[in-house]
Amino acid sequence: MPSTFYTSEAFHALEKEEIFRREWVCVGQMGEVSKPGDYFTTELLDEPLLVVRGDDNQIRVLSNVCRHRANMVAAGAGNAKGFVCSYHAWTYGRDGRLLAARLMDGVEGFDKANCPLHGFATEVWQGFIFVNLDGQAKPLAPRLAGLLPHIEAHRQEQRHLFYTAEETWQTNWKCLAENFVEGYHLSIAHKTTLHPYIPTALGVKIPGGEGYTAYRGGWTPESPQRGPFNPELTAVQYRSSFLFCVFPSFVVSYAPDITNYLCLRPKGTGEVAIRWGLTSYVKDLEPELRQSYIDLCYAFNPEDRARLETLWKGLQSRHYKPGPLAPANYEGTIWDFYQYMAGRLGSNRGPSAVQAAE
Ligand code: FES
Ligand SMILES: [Fe+2]
Repeated sequence: MPSTFYTSEAFHALEKEEIFRREWVCVGQMGEVSKPGDYFTTELLDEPLLVVRGDDNQIRVLSNVCRHRANMVAAGAGNAKGFVCSYHAWTYGRDGRLLAARLMDGVEGFDKANCPLHGFATEVWQGFIFVNLDGQAKPLAPRLAGLLPHIEAHRQEQRHLFYTAEETWQTNWKCLAENFVEGYHLSIAHKTTLHPYIPTALGVKIPGGEGYTAYRGGWTPESPQRGPFNPELTAVQYRSSFLFCVFPSFVVSYAPDITNYLCLRPKGTGEVAIRWGLTSYVKDLEPELRQSYIDLCYAFNPEDRARLETLWKGLQSRHYKPGPLAPANYEGTIWDFYQYMAGRLGSNRGPSAVQAAE
């Protein structure tokens, strides 16, 4: 794709309206809010978000904006009985209802019941928490049904979150989405980290669907078996990693023993916020093993980051002419991603998109 696909401010404005406000965007993993009252704050575009598990055990993505005069209600992460705004102490429950508003009795027309924190459409898929800002998106799960034969046996919903981190990289969000789902770079960029067990040559493209693209990264015969894993995994599944992108911006790798996921949120054209984490099939991993997985991530993530940040500088060139993609098993996932982007933003997009572009 031409560099303006990544660098154009006007194109990014369109992406924000047509993709990130309209689609299901992953903001975290359910293990981050495992008990009633557990919460964390984040943001998507300029929407402050409060992700919280209620007393009914439902995970909700609420607006983190007070209904009085728009102060942010919560900060950071933790466990709370409720949320008291630090400006005038309006107090909200774990489900976002306004419970108390001091000195407001007798104010004409005021009814606490009319002032809950705004609740965004929320869907938990495979234990990952997705939000849809405009509330109009069709349910997420049906459009990902084609992935299930490949991932069901990994039992992701029962896996245990054992590490999370937040980072900001100086690159376009699409560069990172594309990077995660193409195996072409594995044997070069990750020569000593990932190549020894998941080399480029053993990648096999999986047919993409409406909401995703995927490939299977086969493990070399010499690489030691990692585990434990669900015995229902097939021989192919326990000797490979399954990497996919849920469009637009959730990328994840399911291995027999662990899962490594990245939730991407654009911050302008040249910056992307990443909330990433690791889950394991086994609860309470041995500390040494746990640390070895974390160390591996901190070995290969900087290898990607370095390239994606120099690539971003390369994209500023006015003389860059894009080359062809590698064959399907190596970069076919990028082709699927382009098709998705074309479907959302291309010339055959729907009427509301045309209006937004004008
Ligand atoms: S802005 Fe929150 S109580 Fe006034
Ligand atoms: Fe990589």
